[in-house]
This record gives sequence, C-alpha cells and structure tokens, in this order.
Amino acid sequence: MKGIILAGGTGSRLFPLTKVTNKHLLPIYNKPMIYYPIETLVNAGIKDIMIVSGKGHAGHFLELLKSGGDFGARFSYGVQEEAGGIAQALGICEDFSDHEEVMVMLGDNLIEDPVKDAVEDFKKQKTGAKVFLKEVQDPRSFGVAEIQGDKIKSIEEKPANPKTDQAVIGLYIYDSQVWDVIKNLKPSGRGELEITDVNNYYADKGELTYKKLAGWWGDGGESFDSYLKACNLAADRHNNK
Ligand code: G1P
Repeated sequence: MKGIILAGGTGSRLFPLTKVTNKHLLPIYNKPMIYYPIETLVNAGIKDIMIVSGKGHAGHFLELLKSGGDFGARFSYGVQEEAGGIAQALGICEDFSDHEEVMVMLGDNLIEDPVKDAVEDFKKQKTGAKVFLKEVQDPRSFGVAEIQGDKIKSIEEKPANPKTDQAVIGLYIYDSQVWDVIKNLKPSGRGELEITDVNNYYADKGELTYKKLAGWWGDGGESFDSYLKACNLAADRHNNK
C-alpha cells in the first residue's frame, strides 16, 4: 500500500498565520504539523509516500522533508497548481500509486491511534474503501457519516443538521477504482472536487467500511480553536509518554 499526504489549499481559515507560510508547516507543539500524518503512515508500515502541496510552497516541503530518509520513508512530491479541493489534489497521484491501494491523509489531521490493524483489515476487504470516524460534539464542520452495520450508508459534507455525531476524519484507504471515480466528479457548490463525493460512490456500492478511533483526533486547520486544541493534544502526548 502506498501513502499520500495532501498539504495544499490556501489555509484561509487560519489567516493571517497562513498568508506566507503553508498551513501544514505551522508548529504543532514541537514539530511542524505535517510530521504528525507522516508518522501515522510510517508507523502503519507505509514507507512510499507522495506529498502534494500547492504552488509557492512546494520548495519548502522539499527543503524540510527531503527524500524521507529522516523518517525511514521515501517521499515523492506533487504540486496542485490551483486549489480545487481534496479530491482534485488526490487525482494528481494516480501515476505514483501504480494502481496499488492508497492510504490518504490530510496534512492537518493528527490522530493518537495507530492504524496498522486497519491497513491489515483493508487488505482482507480486497475491494472498496475505508474511512475513519470519531464522535464529536459539533459535527457541522465535517463530513458526517450514517452507519448501517459494518458499512457506511452515506456521508453528508458539513450538514446544517447532522444526522449523527460521527465525523469522517481526514484519513482514507482506497482501492484503484478511486482514480476513475475522481475523473467523473463534478465540482460542488464551493467549486471543489469533494472527497465526500468519492466516499459516497463507495458507500452507494456497499463497499465503504469504517473504523472508529478510540483515541483523540485533532484537525489542525479547521479554526484557530481547533489549531490550539491540536497543539495542546500534541503537548500532552509528548509530555506523558
Ligand atoms: C475535509 C473533508 C471533511 C472532513 C475534514 C476532516 O474538510 O471535506 O469531510 O471531515 O476534512 O478534517 P475541510 O477541512 O476541507 O473543510
């Protein structure tokens, strides 16, 4: 399985912190934000990782992360020339994937749980996709999942009236159908190719499984408060281990 970390976008929700710097390079306690998803993938045994960033920042990632040797990994780099959504950024990685399964993580997501077991479970699943869920108090800023047995029935992106408290976090596993799914997407109301539309393709086919996270989840890029919360979670983990 190959890894992909998406670190593009304008980071407008964190202006002016992100006017010059890319959001995923901001500090989360004692490390740049992107170190956390890199560590999640590497700890799951995924060593071949493509990092997609936006125009103007790609060189910063290369300078910071280099070939990946510091992490025991091998990095490739991609550039999203215009911010067109998470699914569009993912589409850049088709050749890199070599049509293997991919684990995709958003560069501003931090999780406490290891996900090696989920990777092993997915290999048994053979076809389809898997998402990761975390219950949250206010799911309105996230994709929100409706579950049916061991599958996801559907996901609503940022609903005003969420049907459940299960947020779909920024970590996904896809089989090679994903590349054709992305090619057939239409831009959403906010003019982006939505990862939720990709996930709903699999949900409609009954091929979208899930794993609920037991430990904490931080979304470092959602708001100033979520950024601060992510910093505090990372500090607690660092100081209590
Ligand atoms: C994205 C996804 C959303 C998901 C969230 C997790 O939202 O669209 O479904 O719950 O990441 O961080 P965005 O941060 O792009 O608004």
